[in-house]
Amino acid sequence: MAPLPEPSPDALHHSRELARLIHREIAAAGGWIAFSRYMELALYAPGLGYYSAGAAKFGAAGDFVTAPELSPLFGRTLARQVAQVLELTGGEVLELGAGSGRLALDLLRELERLGTLPVRYHILEVSADLRERQRALIGEAAPHLLERVAWLDTLPASFTGITLGNEVLDAMPAALVRWREDAVYERGVASAGDEFQWSERPLAPGPLLDAARALKLPAGYLSEINLAAAALVASLARRLQSGALLLIDYGFGESEYYHPQRSQGTLMCHYRHHAHADPFFLPGLQDITAHADFSRIARAGTAGGLELLGYATQAAFLINCGITQLLSETPVEDVSTYLPLTNQAQRLLSPAEMGELFKVIALGKGIDEPLVGFAGGIGGIACRPPGSESVSRAGTAKDKVQLPEPSASPLPPGGACDKTR
Ligand SMILES: C[S@@+](CC[C@H](N)C(=O)[O-])C[C@H]1O[C@@H](n2cnc3c(N)ncnc32)[C@H](O)[C@@H]1O
Repeated sequence: MAPLPEPSPDALHHSRELARLIHREIAAAGGWIAFSRYMELALYAPGLGYYSAGAAKFGAAGDFVTAPELSPLFGRTLARQVAQVLELTGGEVLELGAGSGRLALDLLRELERLGTLPVRYHILEVSADLRERQRALIGEAAPHLLERVAWLDTLPASFTGITLGNEVLDAMPAALVRWREDAVYERGVASAGDEFQWSERPLAPGPLLDAARALKLPAGYLSEINLAAAALVASLARRLQSGALLLIDYGFGESEYYHPQRSQGTLMCHYRHHAHADPFFLPGLQDITAHADFSRIARAGTAGGLELLGYATQAAFLINCGITQLLSETPVEDVSTYLPLTNQAQRLLSPAEMGELFKVIALGKGIDEPLVGFAGGIGGIACRPPGSESVSRAGTAKDKVQLPEPSASPLPPGGACDKTR
């Protein structure tokens, strides 16, 4: 790995504290913890994990840029989809993992403009530090909207309206699995002095082994399985009375996720805008992510009684929701506003940036109109009926490997979402 920027002495101290905590947990567990537990501690250990502690994460001064941080166009465009669901089913908004609060702010302002402000905008945020940042941002930029925002510690027992999550699935702890000739192994972490090292153990019977066996991958293959993300969706599905669940993230359907050429998985770390593959580098100071497997997400939702309402690339979704019309509201003559906005739109939409790798999936209940983000005649992805291997899609320009084009599979009768490409 090429040398990465040096952390400050304080940041280094913080990382060592977290490393010590993880080493203690490894020792207490008999010398080994699953990678998913390592990832959970590295990201969410109270006061020390990457998302729980105070450093800037998002934007130019942080480690990576998400779509809401990149441009207000993202939240404003998404507001069209949110408004439609609120008009159809009534209810409120629940945002999962709201990061800096930027998306909440842009959505609330645009919903106000559209006259569809919900009575309550709930935020479920696992990080106490991020909650404070969210409150401060909204309080400063739109104090009159703050009274509508409520922070939750746990999911509500039942919910009507729209639940959103941008880049939440990829931040949930994933298990690392290695398929070998003799058995399926789970990749875990052991201590080697002050360092961490990889260590693999045969998987014990249980849901992870069942999920790994079902994938039927060849010996030597290494990848992630994210049962926590699927469990979150299952739990949201159980609670949804009427409305939609809209998740946006980078990832693929199962056939592409576990493609023969992607034999080393999708685990990725971000530190000061450098992407690399070493999760043991400066724990607590870098983000650790794995792509979303949208087939597993779709199955978790449909098994929980939701209908698959749509699956599209981010570019298709934003265009269907009217991002170009929003852009055209700014006069071209206003160069200092217009040029940065077009540049941001290009990054959100371009296949070489976020347009193709990022997908949007919608699952819902009690909605019998096509959702605007998937119904505008642009770029929907072939969907099979709920409960099957429901989502299939191939190649993106950002993929490390060149994958075949998606088969133009005809929509079966009663299929749950429009194939609009
Ligand atoms: C990569 S950040 C994305 C932040 C923001 N949505 C954005 O797009 O800028 C991941 C976020 O998910 C949150 N998160 C992770 N697991 C979560 C869970 N189980 N429930 C709610 N939020 C979660 C993190 O605390 C963090 O705010």
